[in-house]
Parts: sequence; C-alpha cells; structure tokens
Amino acid sequence: MQVIHSPHEIFARVGFERKEGQRVGLVPTMGALHAGHLSLVERAKSQCDVVVATIFVNPAQFGPNEDYAKYPRTREADLECLEAIGCDYVFAPEREQVYGPDHSTFIDPPSVAKRWEGELRPGHFRGVATVVLKLFMMVPADIAYFGRKDYQQVAVIRKMIEDLNLPIRLEVCDTVREADGLAMSSRNRYLSTEERKRALGLSMALRRASELVGEGVVSSRMIEEEMRRILIDSGVDRIDYAQIVHGDSLEPLEQTIAPAVAIIAARLGTTRLLDNWTLA
Ligand code: PAF
Repeated sequence: MQVIHSPHEIFARVGFERKEGQRVGLVPTMGALHAGHLSLVERAKSQCDVVVATIFVNPAQFGPNEDYAKYPRTREADLECLEAIGCDYVFAPEREQVYGPDHSTFIDPPSVAKRWEGELRPGHFRGVATVVLKLFMMVPADIAYFGRKDYQQVAVIRKMIEDLNLPIRLEVCDTVREADGLAMSSRNRYLSTEERKRALGLSMALRRASELVGEGVVSSRMIEEEMRRILIDSGVDRIDYAQIVHGDSLEPLEQTIAPAVAIIAARLGTTRLLDNWTLA
C-alpha cells in the first residue's frame, strides 16, 4: 500500500492506472476508521482493480462551534487497517494542499442540502460538496463509495454528480451496525459507557418505525410520535429531528409511501448522532 500526500502525485498515479485499463475505486474518509469504512473498501475491492482511500479531516464542513479540532485523528491505526485489508493507495493530503491560503472557491450545494443537517449545520454541505468535488478531481476514479448512514450527504453528492455531469459512478453501501444495533460512526468513540447505552434509542426508534410500516401504519405523524417517544424513553439528551421524508428529495412525507425514509439526529451529551432506515 502506498501513502501519497501530494495531489499531483495521486492524480498522476490514478491516471496511469486507468490508462493501463485498471478500474479505480475511491473511498473518501476523514479517518478514525471503523468497520463501516472498511466495508466500503471491501466493496470497492470487489468491484475495482485498484482502491484509493482518502484520509482528510475537512475543515470546511465543520461549523465554528463544532468538533474540527477534537475530531479523532488515528492515522497510524487507520493505515494499519487499510493495509491489512489490501487497500492499494491512501491519499492523505495536508490541509494546505487542499485549501491554499487564498482558497475562495466553494460549491453551492443542491436544494436537497437545505433541510435537516443543512439547517442545523449552516455551511456543512457547502464544505462537504466542495471537498468531495475536489477529491473527485484529485483522484479521478471510476466509482466512489459512500455509506448510507449519512443519508443526506449521499443525496447531496448524488445530485451534485448529476447536476455537474461528473464522470464518476456513485455506489452507496449499507450502514454497518454494532451487534446491538448502534450505527457505526467515528463519533461513537466520544460516547461514555452510559451515553452509549442511551444511544441505542436511535436504532430502536427506527426499527419500531419499520415495524409499524410493516403492520400497515401509513401516517408519518403517528410513526414520528412513536420514534420521539422511544428516543425520549431511552434518555437521549436532545432530538434534533425524527422525521419521515421522501428518499430522494428529503422533503417531509405525510404518508409512508415509497420511497420513504426515517431519519433521526439526536444528541447524547455533546455528541450528535445520525441514523436512518428505509421504510418503503
Ligand atoms: O463522510 C465523511 O467522512 C465526510 O463527510 C467526507 C465524505 C469524507 C467528506 O469530507
């Protein structure tokens, strides 16, 4: 496995691989890798000849009061995991190599970025869209792999690829969960043992939502109320949203008619967790 820091070098390597007829897969990450990230690399390996994982904690997607400075940075462990599962290249640029001192060009994200995370974290998707486009330019791969856990992020990237006619295919991979249902996330490591227990409320609420749909309940309001009740009973500290939305537009749905997705964002102490479940 080769670790490359220079954008010019990774661009040249990927260009070379593709000229040789190799299909290249890209797995963008911010490091602090867990089994969810590794499942993206595994999927990329199963579909591509060469896999590039990127590790870059993108300052542009963090708000002024968010956790950029304390976001977990576990470079050595990340590289060991990636090497062990047979990743071919890691692209890990320095901040200045991505955002020069006078960097001033940003992507205005699509309208699917407006609600939910977009409303609660102003500028977040502008930062995500900008860095993802930059990564696509620096690592001109055939296929890019993202996890479904960040449902709105995937919707934003999908629309950006479509709107900007980007020559890359998007592959969305299922959320990987702990045995008890908690969706894997780099931010789980912030949770105390006690918060970790209460965090199970998210997956419990989503499972119940799915059960209710299975039992024939179509009223989103009823299901949203039930999700909130479970979250409150589990002891989450704050519910940012627990909502049924249209799977593509992310607009609220009155009825759970396909494509309906339940999305939740909730806080445990100072940690904010997201999860979602496709209902119909
Ligand atoms: O999902 C993430 O880890 C990040 O938002 C991404 C896509 C790597 C962009 O920084």
